Amino acid sequence: MDSNATRRSFLSMSAAVAAPAILGAQSPNDTMRVACIGVGNRGSYLLRNMLKVAGTKVVAVCDLLPERANTAAQAVEKAGGSAAVYSDFRKMLEERKDIDAVVVATPDWTHRDVDIAVLEMGKNLYAEKPLALNIADCKMIQSTAKRAKGIMQVGFQLRHDPNRHAAEKFIHEGGIGKVLMCHGIRHGGDLPRAIPWYFDKTKCGDIVVDQGIHILDLFRWAIGSNPVRALASGGTDLFIDVPPGRTVMDNYNLILEYPGGQRVNFSHHYFDPPGFSGDQERVFGSEGSVDLVAATWQPRMKRGLVKLEVPDAGEDSTYSALKAFAGYARDHKEPINNVDSALASTAMVIMATKAIYEKRIVTWDEVMG
Ligand SMILES: NC(=O)c1ccc[n+]([C@@H]2O[C@H](COP(=O)([O-])OP(=O)(O)OC[C@H]3O[C@@H](n4cnc5c(N)ncnc54)[C@H](O)[C@@H]3O)[C@@H](O)[C@H]2O)c1
Repeated sequence: MDSNATRRSFLSMSAAVAAPAILGAQSPNDTMRVACIGVGNRGSYLLRNMLKVAGTKVVAVCDLLPERANTAAQAVEKAGGSAAVYSDFRKMLEERKDIDAVVVATPDWTHRDVDIAVLEMGKNLYAEKPLALNIADCKMIQSTAKRAKGIMQVGFQLRHDPNRHAAEKFIHEGGIGKVLMCHGIRHGGDLPRAIPWYFDKTKCGDIVVDQGIHILDLFRWAIGSNPVRALASGGTDLFIDVPPGRTVMDNYNLILEYPGGQRVNFSHHYFDPPGFSGDQERVFGSEGSVDLVAATWQPRMKRGLVKLEVPDAGEDSTYSALKAFAGYARDHKEPINNVDSALASTAMVIMATKAIYEKRIVTWDEVMG
């Protein structure tokens, strides 16, 4: 394989690519003033990590639930800062012209409206995945992001996980030769019962869209193209009407076919006994295979795992993603998980979900219109 070509393709797919020459929402060397919208389960974790990112300052927090917003403001205070508290994000965006960047972690079905409002106000945006729950909404966010003054990074934080990032770089540089197949397992316990919307497929898009998307995004990145069709089967076989009214599945199996002949094979369920199988993310190539989670590779014709060099080893992936966001916003660069990439990964999981529901092969062209 042409190592220059593969290196170039890694750079174009991963390292920051200069965005069009429009001025960012922030001048270089300034402290980035951040607001957080949605400070529940994920948003509070993002906030805690944002507070550790150098060159940033959280100045406002917003949640529909005042107690959550207050708890978030207390976390800012404990870290030595001070954040204004809001329950209406539009009011916050109107009042606080000093905000440079916004972290959005509201539920999936709200992403379109919140993300678009933030982008239209010219802020840099870190928005949680999935991009939205249908293609029309995804495209609406994409076109707004293209016109926006700020950058948009979507919360596929595993792309910034030091091990996975190093492993993907190795793959894109030709380390395992031609990528032939990816195999993933996400086996665990059920979704968090304290968060009801996770069990309503109209609000989260079901478990491929809301959960499976992380690993499937990593495989799409490793292969470097978009899948052409999905074959899949899934259902609810253990947690039937648990919790009451549940409409999301508890298991599925999925095969995605890619234009270069590569296949992704992914198994995802919620009845794994503790410590039994867990997560696996493996990419198989003509010269060897990589374990993304461990950042190890194994040559195909030789026994012996090789540990890859991992910069920032052990760093939390959410912290790494937010640190990268601060850099992209400061330099006005396109993130590796930008809106185009997020749209493709969201379309991929919408395609897979349709294949499961309709018990037939669904194509990329059909889903993308
Ligand atoms: N990247 C990851 O690993 C990861 C992990 C978990 C969740 N998520 C994503 O994060 C998002 C939030 O998930 P969660 O688990 O934190 O859910 P959650 O229900 O715990 O938190 C969502 C919060 O948003 C608030 N909210 C809803 N609408 C709002 C609005 N209009 N204005 C202000 N606040 C509003 C809610 O009151 C709640 O506190 C989802 O998109 C989810 O997919 C990502």
